[in-house]
Amino acid sequence: MSKEKVVSDYNGYDYKTEFWEKTDRAYEDQADRMAIRKLLPKRMEKFADIGGGYGRLANEYLKRARKVYIFDYSKTELDQAKEMYGDKIETRAGDIYKLPFKDNELDGLMMVRVTHHLEHLDKAIAELYRVLKPGGSAVIEVANKRTLPKMARFVTGRSKINPFDQSVANYKEISKDGFYNYHPKYVENIFSKVGFKTEKILSVSNFRSRGLKKFLGTNNLVKMENGAQQLLAPIRFAPSIYYKLRKPEE
Ligand SMILES: C[S@@+](CC[C@H](N)C(=O)[O-])C[C@H]1O[C@@H](n2cnc3c(N)ncnc32)[C@H](O)[C@@H]1O
Repeated sequence: MSKEKVVSDYNGYDYKTEFWEKTDRAYEDQADRMAIRKLLPKRMEKFADIGGGYGRLANEYLKRARKVYIFDYSKTELDQAKEMYGDKIETRAGDIYKLPFKDNELDGLMMVRVTHHLEHLDKAIAELYRVLKPGGSAVIEVANKRTLPKMARFVTGRSKINPFDQSVANYKEISKDGFYNYHPKYVENIFSKVGFKTEKILSVSNFRSRGLKKFLGTNNLVKMENGAQQLLAPIRFAPSIYYKLRKPEE
């Protein structure tokens, strides 16, 4: 595994407890699940959750695929996944830039909350394309740099990162956390250069705000989110943008 490319090490980090259970992120979790249910094919033979961590989202795909892989480089995450799902999944460890799958091996894959760790998004997307068989589907979530709060911070001078240009935003030291955010157009160019056809786009976690959670409550935000994912997709202002992509038949 090339060290300079793996920018966030989840070994020894209890992502499940620290990030999801100790914090108020039920809305974000529901928003992810809602999008995945709308985008993933109903039936697949071989499916992989790329950077799947401990399998937070496994219940959204276990019933849809005959064979399920959870791929990640963190042993801590994969051991947790195995403990939770046993024989229902197979774990595979490695680096996203060199996926341990053959060309055209999978007929479905998903990659959620991983792009913000990737220094070379184009290379990772090309790898996803390689392992997917012609006609196969990829659901990819992208960390968006062009959100309303980031626009507000930029125009009021509180941030120097320009959300309107297409350069990749790196919000933290690469050696520490590697927190990349992307302009939707930049990502969409990569998808089409690699050869993917975009079938559907959703705007996700539209109401991610501590204030809104406090004021309206998670249940109301989840209801609003359901309608907003499709409605707001054309403007792509949300922190997460989901793409359903297809590798064309040969
Ligand atoms: C924020 S977590 C997301 C986990 C899961 N997809 C979810 O939504 O709950 C990011 C995951 O990506 C994995 N990851 C980051 N960079 C990677 C790389 N270069 N190769 C393989 N996995 C990577 C991390 O180990 C971690 O489990």
